[in-house]
Amino acid sequence: MRMYDLIMKKKHGQSLTDEEIRFLVNGYTKGEIPDYQMSAFLMAVCFQGMDEAETLSLTMAMAESGEMLDLSAIHGMKADKHSTGGVGDKTSLILGPMVASLDVPVAKMSGRGLGHTGGTIDKLESFPGFSVAISNEKFIENVNRMKLAIIGQTAELAPADKMLYALRDVTATVDQLSLIASSIMSKKLAAGSDVIVLDVKAGSGAFMKTYEDARKLAETMVKIGNGASRKTYGVISDMNQPLGFAVGNILEVKEAIGALNGRAPEDLNDACMTLASYMLLGAGRVKEIAEARELLAETVRSGAALLKLAEFVEAQGGDKRYVYEPDRFPKANLIYEVKAQADGYISAMNTEEIGLTSLVLGGGRETKESEIDLTVGIVFEKKIGAKVRVGDTIAVLHANDKEKLSAATKRLQNALTIGQTPVTPVPHILGVVEQ
Ligand code: URA
Repeated sequence: MRMYDLIMKKKHGQSLTDEEIRFLVNGYTKGEIPDYQMSAFLMAVCFQGMDEAETLSLTMAMAESGEMLDLSAIHGMKADKHSTGGVGDKTSLILGPMVASLDVPVAKMSGRGLGHTGGTIDKLESFPGFSVAISNEKFIENVNRMKLAIIGQTAELAPADKMLYALRDVTATVDQLSLIASSIMSKKLAAGSDVIVLDVKAGSGAFMKTYEDARKLAETMVKIGNGASRKTYGVISDMNQPLGFAVGNILEVKEAIGALNGRAPEDLNDACMTLASYMLLGAGRVKEIAEARELLAETVRSGAALLKLAEFVEAQGGDKRYVYEPDRFPKANLIYEVKAQADGYISAMNTEEIGLTSLVLGGGRETKESEIDLTVGIVFEKKIGAKVRVGDTIAVLHANDKEKLSAATKRLQNALTIGQTPVTPVPHILGVVEQ
C-alpha cells in the first residue's frame, strides 16, 4: 500500500477501506508517513468528506493508536460526559458529584483550556493540592470506592489524534466534521467509559457556530459511539452567551459550589440536569428522564452532591475546606465594573470574544507553556434579554494587571450588543440526539 495512492483516491472522492485508513493512521503515528503527505490527505478530506464507515474506521484507528484504558475492574456501567468546548462551562464540577452520589460510577477524562474555551482540569487545580496526574490503578480504585475520579489526557492516550490535531491546526483542516468527530470520539473511546454523553455546543462561543452544524456533528458522534458499543447521547446546547454568570477558573469553581448549594443560574441548572439525566439513563440507573431529574435535584437538596465534591477533592490531594468555605480562595486585586453604554436590551454577546477577554486577563494560556492566573475572569450581572440603562453594571472584571484590565475592558465592551427591541432568550438546551 502507498500513501500516494490513498491521497489520489480521496482526491477523486472515493471511499477508503478500513485497512487503508489504518495504514495511514499507523504509518503517520510511527513517523513513516511524512507531514506533507498527511496534510495533502487531510485537505482532500476537507473537500471530499468521509462517509460513515470511513469516519468510524478513522476513529477506531486513532483510539487504538495508543493505550486503551481498561476499566473492566470498575463495577457497574461507567459514565463520562464531554463538551465540545465553551465559555463558562463548569458543568463537570457539578454533575460529576451529582451522578456519583447516586452510585453511578463517573470515570472521567478531562482537558485543559483550549483557545478561548476553559478546561475542567485548570478549574479543579484551583483547589490547593489537587492533582489529575493519578495512576490508572488509583483512578480505578477511587471510582470503585467513591464513584468519581477525573484524570487528564495522558500522552499514551490516542497519540495519533494528538499528532493529527497539531497538524490540522496549522494546515487549515480543523473544521471538517468527520475529522472533529473522530478526534473527539477517539479519545472518548480510548478512555473506556460505557456511557458517553456529549454536550455539543452551538453559537458564537462554540466550535460549531450554527445549530445545523452542531446537530450534524452530534449525529455523527452518536453514530460512532453506538457503532463502538457505547451508549452515546448528543445534547445540543446554546453557546451564544456564557453558561452561568462566571467566566474564569476560581470564579467558576465558586459558581459551581454555589450550584451544589442550590443556587445554580437557570441555564447552568438546565445544562447539568439534562446532561446528568442522560448519564443516569444510559447507565440504567433510571428508566425515564423525569425520574432522573427528580433524583438529581434531591442530591442537591440533601447536600449529598456537595459532600461528594468534598470527598472527591480530598481523594485527589486537594484541600476540601475550600468546598465548604469558598471565601478561602484567593481573589484578584483589581475589580472593574463594565457598564452599559446605551439604554436598551442586551441582544447579543460575542461569546468567543468573552472567552478571549478572560484569556487576555491571564485566565487562559497564550502559549502551551503559559502559567494561568486562576483568580482572574468575569462575573456577569446581566445576560441576553436583560433591559439596561446607561451606566448599569453588566459585568465585573477581576484582574491583577492594569494594562490587561484596560485591554479586557475594551474587548468586553465590543463583545456586547445593546439593541432597542426586547429580546427573548432561547432555551439553553436546543435538542438531543439519541440514535
Ligand atoms: N476538540 C477535539 O478534541 N478535537 C477536535 O477536532 C475539535 C475539538
